[in-house]
Amino acid sequence: MKALVFGSLNIDKVYSLAHLPEKGETLRCKGYELHVGGKGLNQAIALKKAGFDVAMAGAVGTDGAFLKAHLDENGVDTSLLLTTNGYTGHAIIEVDPDGQNQMVLFAGANIAITPAYCDKVLEDFGKGDLLLMQYETSCVEYMTKKARKKGLTVALNPSPYVKELNDFPYENVDILILNESEGISITGENDIQKAVSALLERTNGGKVVLTLGGDGAVFAAGKEYVQVPAFRVNAVDTTGAGDTFTGYFLNAYLQGAQPKEALTRASAASSIAVTKKGAAETIPTQEETEAFLASV
Ligand code: RIB
Repeated sequence: MKALVFGSLNIDKVYSLAHLPEKGETLRCKGYELHVGGKGLNQAIALKKAGFDVAMAGAVGTDGAFLKAHLDENGVDTSLLLTTNGYTGHAIIEVDPDGQNQMVLFAGANIAITPAYCDKVLEDFGKGDLLLMQYETSCVEYMTKKARKKGLTVALNPSPYVKELNDFPYENVDILILNESEGISITGENDIQKAVSALLERTNGGKVVLTLGGDGAVFAAGKEYVQVPAFRVNAVDTTGAGDTFTGYFLNAYLQGAQPKEALTRASAASSIAVTKKGAAETIPTQEETEAFLASV
């Protein structure tokens, strides 16, 4: 089984602040760092580090060569990546001393994806392969529908939340992975179990994984409902934690781990990621994740 991660690649500009700014406030930064990021790129690296054979599709601009190089260094197949004439997508990320963040996203090349490019990329994949997408590129609906028709297993992380996700055709999704606030926004249900049921209904026989921050994570399929607690760590920067979780969960689950074990591994990997600054560079290796699990 091969994985195609089809998604965003961003340049992450990370500003450390004493607190997240109020409306109209001007703040001096305590630090600035440039990192590789984008939910697509982060998830491709997480899936690869967890042990999967991964190819990434998506687009960068002329200023994005170092993002491709980072994927190459980590063993992700980048032969399908597109380079456009415009700017690469970027994220302005403000981080407070507790590791909480807020973000401004510039889509750039991420929305240069066309149906023709999707068709071309899909030629290399078939029945049984995995497609993993997020919601930072154009053509997500088109691609999930086509991939599902071709027999790929379709996983979607519908993030970041935008209103149009309320009406997304989730029946083309086999595994839906999202966080609590995304689940609540999409379904309009504040109660977690009701939100999970509503999401399951929309996937029409699919599986739902909901991350709950400090309350752990949930897996649901049919009548099965499994919850694991979160690990307690000192968070420095939570950027990319969800992406790490997604890659590690999918690897474990699709290699045959029981949902409880897959959730636990994914939580362990994302707990390690939040203890360092950055996104893709903070994703742990399998060995680091094993060592963490052995230490708790
Ligand atoms: O999930 C974290 C990612 O979201 C960041 O790397 C940023 O680029 C945005 O895409």
